[in-house]
Amino acid sequence: MKGVLLSGGTGSRLRPITHTGPKQLVPVANKPVLQYAIEDFKEAGITEIGVVLGNKGREEVQQFLGDGSEFGVDITYIVQGNPLGLAHAIGCARDFVGDDDFVTVLGDNILKQGIHELVDSYREGEYSAGIALQEVDNPHQFGIADVDDRGTVQHLVEKPDDPPSNLALIGIYAFSPVIFDIIEELTPSWRGELEITDALQILLDRGHSVDSHVVTGWWKDTGKPEDILEANRLVLEQHSGSVSGTIESGAEVQGRVDLHETATIRDGAVVRGPVSIAAGTVIESGTYIGPYSSIGADSTIEGAHIENSVIVGESKITTTGKIVDSLIGRGTNIESADGILPEGRRLVVGENSKLKL
Ligand code: G1P
Repeated sequence: MKGVLLSGGTGSRLRPITHTGPKQLVPVANKPVLQYAIEDFKEAGITEIGVVLGNKGREEVQQFLGDGSEFGVDITYIVQGNPLGLAHAIGCARDFVGDDDFVTVLGDNILKQGIHELVDSYREGEYSAGIALQEVDNPHQFGIADVDDRGTVQHLVEKPDDPPSNLALIGIYAFSPVIFDIIEELTPSWRGELEITDALQILLDRGHSVDSHVVTGWWKDTGKPEDILEANRLVLEQHSGSVSGTIESGAEVQGRVDLHETATIRDGAVVRGPVSIAAGTVIESGTYIGPYSSIGADSTIEGAHIENSVIVGESKITTTGKIVDSLIGRGTNIESADGILPEGRRLVVGENSKLKL
């Protein structure tokens, strides 16, 4: 069985963070979202992975994943180019997949349980496809499945006005290669995309059976800043904490803290977990890092109060202000304006930023 990891898309909902890099490399608990998917494949015993790249952030993804050996997998890159829909992206992997069964995962999704349960369930039966489902509150925003009492999929519909259930497709699919001929027959949906949900419905219409697996642990599509913060909370919640770095005497460290071996918490700083602090970062005296914060690599935080936030990295934050519920891009400098007249906020803010002052 092979893996097909979809890593295209424009990341428009994560601007300005995605002006300078692909959404799949935004870190959650100091690990790029895409890496969670790679680890899920590996855990499910799938090590031959095709990564489908869009136009945006291609080089960055290739640079990060390399040939996969660092992650214990073997990666082949496939270029989709323009984003014409999930089915189009999957269709681009046809030569790579050949006659094998395969599992497709969306590169910007994270889920607690990984993918092995769906993969095992698909492997055990005689199916042409398998889908992972989860109950959602807003079914009109997803692909939705109508499933009978025995879990057999009856009908699938993409973003329905009148949802037949609240069971959403969560972007993990197992397929036999029969799906490729069907993808070639698809025509664009109302949103101009080739929908994998439509391809699955055609499979059903032709009498193929589609397995379904309801995922009970959390699942997060990290498309929006608030999703990144929530995914960060959910992942940090699972961490048991591991301190390899330096905690100076006089620093107050409570709860579960991941501290990289080259990171330092100085005398007079307070860190209250769950928190993750990456390589080369220094938390200076007078700083408070509160629960559900991830501070990226090579950053200095001095005197600030940070809580429930993701600092991507290479940043210098010396403001005495409070930073909460924030996603702060790479290379950001935030300093104090105290005592400088005229009083007021001094901002140099990139395109498509969102501020709450
Ligand atoms: C896509 C799929 C949809 C699925 C969703 C999961 O939607 O088309 O069926 O429920 O991913 O995240 P999109 O993110 O393209 O709106």
